[in-house]
Amino acid sequence: MRRYNLKVKKDVIYLFATVCLLLCDTMLYGQLAERFFKSEDIMLFGTYYYPEQWPREQWERDIEKMAEMGFDFTHYGEFAWGAMEPQEGQYDFSWLDTAVGLAEKHGLKVVMCTPTPTPPVWLTEKHPDVLTKNEMGIVIQHGRRQHASWSSDTYREYVEKIVTELAKRYGNSDVIVGWQIDNEPSHYGVVDYSDNAQRKFKVWLENKYETIDHLNATWGNAFWSQTYENFEQVRIPNARELPEKANPHAMLDFQRFCSDEVASFVNDQADVLRQYISPDQWITTNTMPNHHPVDPNRMDRLDFHTYTRYLVNGGDNGHGDQGFRMGSSNALAFHNDTYRNYPGKVYGVMELQPGQVNWGGYNPQPYPGAIRLWLYHVMAGGGKFVCNYRFRQPLKGSEQYHYGMILTDGVTPSPGGEEYMQTIKEMAALKENFDRNARMPEDVARRKTAILYDIDSEWEMNFQPQTWQWSSRGHLMKYYNTFKSFGASVDIISDNDDFEAYPVLVVPAYELLDNDLVDRWRQYAENGGQLVITCRTGQKNREAQLWEMKLSEPIYELIGAENLFYDHLPPDKWSVVKMDGNDYAWNNWGDVVTPKSGTDVWGAYDDQFYEGKAAVTHRKVGKGSVTFIGADTDDGKLEKEVLKKLYAGANIKTLDLPEGVIVEWRDGFYIALNYSSEKQTIHIPDKATILIGSKELEPAGVTVWKE
Ligand code: GAL
Repeated sequence: MRRYNLKVKKDVIYLFATVCLLLCDTMLYGQLAERFFKSEDIMLFGTYYYPEQWPREQWERDIEKMAEMGFDFTHYGEFAWGAMEPQEGQYDFSWLDTAVGLAEKHGLKVVMCTPTPTPPVWLTEKHPDVLTKNEMGIVIQHGRRQHASWSSDTYREYVEKIVTELAKRYGNSDVIVGWQIDNEPSHYGVVDYSDNAQRKFKVWLENKYETIDHLNATWGNAFWSQTYENFEQVRIPNARELPEKANPHAMLDFQRFCSDEVASFVNDQADVLRQYISPDQWITTNTMPNHHPVDPNRMDRLDFHTYTRYLVNGGDNGHGDQGFRMGSSNALAFHNDTYRNYPGKVYGVMELQPGQVNWGGYNPQPYPGAIRLWLYHVMAGGGKFVCNYRFRQPLKGSEQYHYGMILTDGVTPSPGGEEYMQTIKEMAALKENFDRNARMPEDVARRKTAILYDIDSEWEMNFQPQTWQWSSRGHLMKYYNTFKSFGASVDIISDNDDFEAYPVLVVPAYELLDNDLVDRWRQYAENGGQLVITCRTGQKNREAQLWEMKLSEPIYELIGAENLFYDHLPPDKWSVVKMDGNDYAWNNWGDVVTPKSGTDVWGAYDDQFYEGKAAVTHRKVGKGSVTFIGADTDDGKLEKEVLKKLYAGANIKTLDLPEGVIVEWRDGFYIALNYSSEKQTIHIPDKATILIGSKELEPAGVTVWKE
């Protein structure tokens, strides 16, 4: 009897301890991401390999070559569902065991992926209802990837089974360093209108609103008699079915729904993996930055986030004559600064362009040195690892012509492969000077700037831009580009984050908000922060309804101005904002305000019927200040001058970097990168030690120094 009691007690204690551990684990996901990376590693290097796509007799030669080139890890499996489960329930991991064994033999770690973007043909043939359907009602068929719907329970069941099998097989292997869920989960631009999606959208709405009256009231369905009697009647807003603009509240909810669907697809896989894998293996996914409907902030069951990026594909002219071969300096910068702030607070780059690609509008060769430049850029942002897509250039299949680390002969390193080898060697040498505990220099810390980003506002403004000339992302990037030219280290944060760590906080076109957020902004300024608010901010509540007050009234007190209205000009007509005796042209968007007493007018409209009214205002609030910038210009000059004035007034020293030049500080290193087409000379103090490069940077040049 006693023994029995003891056993019960033990079980209870065990259960209690497990619950505590699970709770802690849940709370600490992400914050513990640092534990996966050794403090002496600046950045790890990886390369994608597809054993299932190559003759088995070549695997060892290829994997040995990866190790010889200096790679730390390889990457398997994201498209190999067909090879892993050739027939339903018949799993074959023997080939993958061999590939993992070869990696181990040659000292490489492996990132193992769940193969869920490519369901085998037997699956979609047996269950055609798992397929997505586009806005025209066309069912997307086997023969591409990501053709199955996140909203299909059947697909989700199969996903759970294959992920479980994989996790059981490799979850305790020392060779597997971490897991990637799916691949760029996004449906690649196909919005899903399948019956599964229609059904799940209704469920999502019912969970949110509980009663149909609540939905009708929130969406304003009395307008045009859109009132529904029950949730069954609601369909996904589809521009093909609703040629006149759909209800904006329905649109916003649909965006949120899509984003939740893909997030739960990823989060659920993470939960399955976590049941079986060792706590030493991390879990991530690789997303394309800003790719609808993906919101990494919702994918909060991961340890951290990674991005994929291809800069040279005919879509970005970069800076100067050769810019199309390097891409814009702020492309990687912006992703580094965004991904570093997603749940987990560290990031990696899962795919980086290895050379010429096959899918661009046109496909130039990258500038010699560009690939090395990008690698240093990821390092400068604090990236924990960088992996290229892919090791070998494919000879067959949909991505022929896509470079790899190795050319089509299977053995010769490509120019990109050579640049990887060089960079891997250089970074190994830099390790000696790497100091994870180095304190950020005072002037760099003072320049730290945060941009508060709200995905709901962006979705809403993209649906209702109000003028052809409005670009939500373009607006934000004008501010971002200015900060980078100041040499500021920037974090793109969300309203879940703390603002206090940043001397300057900008809220660009934050259209949807609530009074609590306005209060937090006020407190931030009162405590000494410099808050910058731009046009369109505060027009609506979180459900995208205009306030039953004057336009944007919730921010009047904070900006110290009132009676806001906005104006647009024709695309070929410009007007002027005058500031400190200079003229600045604008025509995209103008918020016009009347300042209250105690508010300084920094810039005023100089023509139109509102000539003399304020475009830019500034006022002291507590120990800090609030600046309001009402105009959106094409060239960003007005915005830049306002920010210069603000930083100078707040005693924040800024740099004035030429276009295309980036300077970052990381763990004791200063890193300068030249994306411009000209030679650039940068200022490095005489006492500094230059570790890589020199004060003169050729195009695609990199300099690393310590002060
Ligand atoms: C990525 C994708 C890879 C590959 C690559 C080609 O976006 O994740 O699987 O298709 O593009 O550049």
